[in-house]
Amino acid sequence: MRSRKPLVVGNWKMNGDRASGERLLSALVKGVDAALGARVGVAVCPPYPYLEQARAALEGAPIELGAQDVSSFDNGAYTGEVSATMLLDFGCRWAIVGHSERRALFGDDDEAVVAKAGRALEHGLGVIVCVGETLDEREGELTETVLARQVGALKAIGSKADAQRFVVAYEPVWAIGTGRTASPEQAQSAHAFIRARLADAGFAAATNTRILYGGSVKPANAESLFAMPDIDGGLIGGAALSADDFIAIARAAANAQG
Ligand code: PGA
Repeated sequence: MRSRKPLVVGNWKMNGDRASGERLLSALVKGVDAALGARVGVAVCPPYPYLEQARAALEGAPIELGAQDVSSFDNGAYTGEVSATMLLDFGCRWAIVGHSERRALFGDDDEAVVAKAGRALEHGLGVIVCVGETLDEREGELTETVLARQVGALKAIGSKADAQRFVVAYEPVWAIGTGRTASPEQAQSAHAFIRARLADAGFAAATNTRILYGGSVKPANAESLFAMPDIDGGLIGGAALSADDFIAIARAAANAQG
């Protein structure tokens, strides 16, 4: 039995509509009972417009709500942005920050990621900060260099981050949505490296910080990934759109705890 409670988070990305969301949420509420919720933290991150629908559907269920991003600003003339306090107002406990799609497509660099995460933590919103290398970087043996840079950039928030509200997701970019998963050994080695770098960056809670793996996690590979000592659950994209698959993955995380 390890000390860190595993966490499985569904990142719905920009998928679905009100009707499909309703079906998915009600299947999740049926499938994630109190017994499972006691063994594994479960959260879903729908698109912003569906947060209120999800909040209502999840009421009383052991499933937390999260958003896929958060602004680094508090309020004001920032068209298109959504603040941490707005997310808290809608029952969110988490925001994903620095997802590779945001880094690659929307200009979220290390500086933006730390600003967003810092602002969220200041307001009491938990963050799931994503890090990970591209295929070129892995093939160029730059994985550790990239992870060291991305984790090192978080230094400024090290003292604000407690293990309950600060989570890291290791998501090798080449494994996201590609069907190609890091092997349990590759992932474990990156997770152990990230944990060591967090300690170096001043995260007093590094030993208790949950580090999730993300990138083509499915029921078939979840158990072997979660069996690794530094893999504390998963950030799930495609498979989170199927209630059966997502619940099976949450069960795998609970079972990995022994
Ligand atoms: P995937 O996405 O599970 O579809 O690979 C994971 C993620 O991007 O968070």
